Amino acid sequence: MKTMLSGVKPSGQLHLGNYIGALRNFVAYQDDYQMIVFIANLHCITVPQDPIELHTNLRDCIALYLACGLDPKKSIIFLQSDVMAHAQLGFIIGCHTYLGELNRMTQFKDKSSKGEQNLSSGFYTYPTLMASDILIYDADFVPVGEDQKQHVELARDVAIRMNNRYGPLFKVPECLTAKVGARIMSLSDPLKKMSKSDRDGDKGCIYLLDPLDKARKKIMSAVTDSLASVRFDKENQPGVSNLLQILSALTSEPIDSITNRYQSLGYGSLKKEVADAVCATLEKIQSRYKEILASGLIESTLSDGAYRAKILANAKLKLVQEKIGLEIETQ
Ligand code: TYM
Repeated sequence: MKTMLSGVKPSGQLHLGNYIGALRNFVAYQDDYQMIVFIANLHCITVPQDPIELHTNLRDCIALYLACGLDPKKSIIFLQSDVMAHAQLGFIIGCHTYLGELNRMTQFKDKSSKGEQNLSSGFYTYPTLMASDILIYDADFVPVGEDQKQHVELARDVAIRMNNRYGPLFKVPECLTAKVGARIMSLSDPLKKMSKSDRDGDKGCIYLLDPLDKARKKIMSAVTDSLASVRFDKENQPGVSNLLQILSALTSEPIDSITNRYQSLGYGSLKKEVADAVCATLEKIQSRYKEILASGLIESTLSDGAYRAKILANAKLKLVQEKIGLEIETQ
């Protein structure tokens, strides 16, 4: 069975973009792959966090993983910091990554070009930890949204570089992005991706735990255009195209088929249908989420997941350390 690995960094609440771009795919794949899914809590602290809020977000993230349908009997689900080998291999990978490569990472470039002062060195080297997260499990595939592709590319480059230098160490992973929904855009500014760090009174972002009436309101007031024609044209009609993507991703109806149905219907009807689909999805997730919080399943999932992940990660770390000359046999 091939291995698939992914993670979410709950530095805020999980949103519809995380669900469509990532989470729903983890669930879809868990029957056919050895699925390894973790909560990237070390990645969260690359930017300042309030400890109490962070703790709540971590619990919510794992509860939402389970509420969306990840099954701890099928998938290995754990907290990144419970498996210390990630950080140790991350350091080794950092020693095989060039500054030029990190300088080219979009997220770093974006923040530093805006003149953000006080970026942490952890934020700068974050992609090397992410490469470690992936390579330590010999993942064949990494399902992510479009914004993470560049990081998976870096993991591939470093894997190839280290394999060439030391002999076979890592599997070279492939990045998997969905055809529809790999980049869900903000509802209030459809030229920007939907993001938990985007503060536009939160109008652009639907959180998975938003009350349904609030979520519906955000969709009904989504920014569209004045062309009055439902077409999938990301360049000229980004707002409408975003709504079409959301609807298609949640209902599995192809975008063409939706636009055909809308030849003589307006944006109001489209928004209503999108709002119905989003609310139906959120309602299901939220009711399961409440059951999970009360069930004790979070603790058992994390301890079992960490146990299983450590066996794989520690073995890989040992092999890498031996191959690069770090270990001294003591017995
Ligand atoms: P994060 O937490 O920013 O996002 C988690 C997943 O959600 C996807 N995503 C989106 N997809 C579609 N539309 C959007 N608007 C949208 N916003 C986010 C992301 O692409 C991602 O798949 N660095 C990672 C976490 C991570 C990781 C890893 C992922 C750490 N180590 C190893 C895979 C493998 C991150 O910050 O994702």
